[in-house]
This record gives sequence, structure tokens and C-alpha cells, in this order.
Amino acid sequence: MMGKVVSCKMNIKIFNTAKQVSNELSSYIISKYILRGKNIAISGGSTPITLFKEISKKLKKTEKIESNFYWIDERCVLPKSKESNFKIANNYLFNKINIDKKNIYRIKGENNPKDEQRRYTEILKNNLESINKLPSIDLSILGIGNDGHTASIFPYQMKKFIDCNSCFVGTHPVSKQKRISLSQNIINNSSEIIFHVTGKNKSDVVDQIINERGDYKSYPASYIKPSFGKLSWYLDFDAAKNLTK
Ligand code: 6PG
Repeated sequence: MMGKVVSCKMNIKIFNTAKQVSNELSSYIISKYILRGKNIAISGGSTPITLFKEISKKLKKTEKIESNFYWIDERCVLPKSKESNFKIANNYLFNKINIDKKNIYRIKGENNPKDEQRRYTEILKNNLESINKLPSIDLSILGIGNDGHTASIFPYQMKKFIDCNSCFVGTHPVSKQKRISLSQNIINNSSEIIFHVTGKNKSDVVDQIINERGDYKSYPASYIKPSFGKLSWYLDFDAAKNLTK
């Protein structure tokens, strides 16, 4: 069933359910990016799972995928760990589509974090077009935590988020887990940035960020503003419920 867009303003697309968001977003990503062999950076967490499932369902096994996939962030864990963003994408997407390993540029969470930060910085520089003297990703897909974090840049780490020109080593504020994350400058240098956010537990932070009110200045996601590209929001009704008040 086609997702019903209940509101479409300022590149904000709101659909009745999370499944309809994934259905519409997957069709958009496939036609505009994947079937054109573009460079895509994906996030982790739970929201992308339905999107990965929709993309793999729509991409016939026979179509050889030439797109290159990168990560917005990765936990410093083994690739087989249930916490690995790579493992999630591999299980729900890459294992189900016709793509070569050479097109998948995972962040190696098993490496020494500082070494991996340097390695991945080089990977981005050597494989992506340079725009504004920075590597430029065609499409970056982001989530948002209900504390306003995005990628692995957390509210208490704003300095790292602002000053770094590529990847950095972040630390989860609660678990203290190390993470490798792209910074604001790299993400903002994308041609298109999409926030894919669902669920009522995100409605407050989404409203504050989009309407620039409340604590929005303390949220890293508020500083995601494309330097030359486009910013779009794909939301379900629950995540957008405060917006439509
Ligand atoms: C990660 C993600 C992170 C995620 C948000 C939202 O590695 O966890 O990159 O930034 O996008 O925390 O996570 P959910 O989709 O699980 O709500």
C-alpha cells in the first residue's frame, strides 16, 4: 500500500506508520541513489531495520548493486557482535542483495579506535569526491536519539562534533562504549541528508529541532545543516505528533 503523505512541507514528509515511512523512503533511495551507483552512508540503531528490509525486498537479487556503502558511525565492537551496526546492515540488507564486498566500506569496530579513526578518514578521502576540501557523500541517512544525539555525537561532546574535519572517536555517555563517528562537517558536506525518525519517544526532540525551540541548541542533531545539499525528514505520525499541533 502506498504511504499516505499526511503533510509535506519544508522537505518534511510525514506518513501514518513507520512501515509506510520505510516503504516510501526505500523507493526513493533505490531510484535516486542505489540504481545510480551513488555513495550512501548509513546509521545504526533499530530504526533502519525496517528500511533495510524494504530495500532488500524491492531490489531483485539479479540486479548487481554498484553503490558504495559507508557508515555514519560504528560501535567499537566485533563485527559479529549484536551491537555492531555492520552486523545489522549485513543481516537485513547486504546478505539479501547482489552486492560485492568491495562496495561495502565498513568501519572496523574491532580495531584500535584511534587507528580506525585514522584509517576510515583515509578511506573517505580516497574514495569520495572532494567538495569544499572535504570528502562528500551523496546521501547520508541519520537517526536521532531522544537526547538529540545523531551519529555517535552526544550532547556532552559538542566540541568534538564541531571541530573535527572527518571521523572521531566518541564515547557513549552511559555505557562508555567507544564509537567511531563521522563529524558534523563531513555529514553537512553531503549532497543530501535524510533524518529517518519514527516513534512517539522522538516527538519532543523532533519538534524542538525543527521548530528551533526549547533545548534545541543542546542537541547535536540541530547542527546538521547541509553546507550545499538538501535536508529531508522522513517521519511517522508518532514522531511528528508535536509538529502538527
Ligand atoms: C547508533 C546510531 C545512532 C542512532 C540513534 C537512533 O549507532 O546507534 O547511529 O545515532 O541513529 O541512536 O537510534 P534508534 O533508531 O535505535 O532509535
